[in-house]
This record gives sequence, structure tokens and C-alpha cells, in this order.
Amino acid sequence: QLTELRSILTFTVKLARTAGTLMLEGSQAIQSTLDIDSKVNSIDLVTEYDIAVENLVMNEIKREYPNFKFIGEESYSSGTRPELTDEPTFCVDPIDGTTNFVHGFPYICISLGVIYQKRPVLGVIYNPFLNHLYTAIEGQGSYLTRGSGQPMKLPLASPKPLPALSKALIAVEWGSARDVQAISARSNSFLRLTGDPTDGVSGGRMAHSLRSLGSAALNLAVVAQGAFDLYWDIGCWAWDVCAGVVIVQEAGGVVTGSHAVLAAADPSIDPFKVTPEILTGRKYLAVRRLPDTPQET
Ligand code: IPD
Repeated sequence: QLTELRSILTFTVKLARTAGTLMLEGSQAIQSTLDIDSKVNSIDLVTEYDIAVENLVMNEIKREYPNFKFIGEESYSSGTRPELTDEPTFCVDPIDGTTNFVHGFPYICISLGVIYQKRPVLGVIYNPFLNHLYTAIEGQGSYLTRGSGQPMKLPLASPKPLPALSKALIAVEWGSARDVQAISARSNSFLRLTGDPTDGVSGGRMAHSLRSLGSAALNLAVVAQGAFDLYWDIGCWAWDVCAGVVIVQEAGGVVTGSHAVLAAADPSIDPFKVTPEILTGRKYLAVRRLPDTPQET
């Protein structure tokens, strides 16, 4: 067990807030210059600020914790791909919600997770645009601090068991694959979640509604908060979910999935049992939870 998790948390929160200042400056600049690049396709975006924030964070971590390994979204993209070992490892998405960042939609965060013995043990998710800070240490609960307020234990209200998917507010994402097969598989899943079960066509569960925050980390944070009942996604990377996994679990939720990332606010739900046809049997759904696992094709 890592004994110094409390002091790592203090360091990580400070770092997240420093990174947040750079993100706020960057958002002003990016919207006036629109200096945006793309990765896999024209909607998989990256900006100079994703790289600048990652460099800032990586340098600070290296200075403070020289023995820790570092996995970051942008350094991974540019070819620095450390193997995941049992050593303490920071796993970082400098700007989760890059598309939101580019458009000025204020659901954007930095996600900083610590993995130890291949298990996420600490998570910090900070949205500087709303000044929302989510934190968790394994075994010590999850907290949300809004503005300069006191940390509030998550979930914010004691969760009632979710009787059925028809009562759920579900977070989903559209992903960046836009070929017909990928997009229709996703939208068919959305139809089965929300369609009218009596229409004889959709076989839906008529969930209350779907939401897309555009940031995997914030979707997980809002599950931990108790406002989303579920978050279902495919193709997430380790840095998208590492911090959020700890935050959801420490709020009493469940994160599961070898084929999809799914977080449920109510631990009595086995999401695979509730929605088997939505979550399984889709060949294009690939596991991207850790950098060295097979990727979406
Ligand atoms: C993306 C967002 C998106 C999720 C994708 C992520 P990025 O991260 O979290 O909501 O659906 O899987 O890659 O590119 O904004 O850092």
C-alpha cells in the first residue's frame, strides 16, 4: 500500500489548480485563433494547450516524484508509451473534453489518476471553468469541492436503488469514430436505451434521458455525485477513466467492463445483466482502458 497517498493528493490538487489556470488562459486564446490539430480524424482534436498542460504536469510530477512513472494522453500519442507496471504511476489526461475546450462548452477538466500495483488508488478531476474539484483516495471516500466551499462527501444524496433503466438518467458519448458501422451501433444502443418498448420496433427501455458531457472523466464524476445513474461508453483510454474510477468506487458506485466502461451509481445493479444486448456482442467495441490493451479497429 502506498502510505503517502494523502500528501500525493495535496500535491495533485495543487497541480490540478495550476493546470486549471493555464486551461482558462488557453480557452480564451484558442477561441480567437482556432489553432487546432487533429489526431485520428478531423473530429479527434488536440490543441497546443493539451500539450502545454501535459508538459507542465509531467515536469512537476517528475520533480516531486522522480520515481513515479508517467502515462499521459499527449505523450502517449507522440510515441512515449511506458509499460504499465506495479510501480506507482501517474495517469493523466491534461484536457479531457478537448472538443468542449475548442467550442467553449464549460465541461472540461484535467484528470489525474495514480495507479499502484496496476490498480487506480487516487483520483483528482478538476473543472476550472466551473471550479468543481472531485477527489478520492482508495478507502477514504470521494469528495466534491465547489468554488471555495468545503469538500462535500459523495454521493451528494443517499442513493435509492434504481428500480429499472426506465427511471435512469444515462450518460453516453458519441465517440470519435464516424464510419457508418460505428455510428449506427452507438445510435442503435441509444435507441434501445430510450425507445418506447411498446412500439414494437425499438425494444427500448425508455430511460428518462441520455446526456453527453463530452468528457469521460466528468461523466464518471457526475455518476459519483449521484446525478447520473449510469455512464456507458466505449473506446475510453486509461487516462480518461483512471481518476474517475476511484472517485466512482469511493462514492459507492461500480465501474466495470472488459468491453466497455460503465459506471453505475447504484452498486446493486449489475449493468451486464440489466442491459446484456446493449453491452455485449459488438465486435467493434474494443477495450481501450489501458494503453497496452487491444485498440478499437
Ligand atoms: C475524450 C472524451 C470523450 C470520450 C472519449 C475521450 P479527450 O477525451 O473524454 O467524452 O468519449 O473516449 O477520448 O479527447 O477530450 O481527451
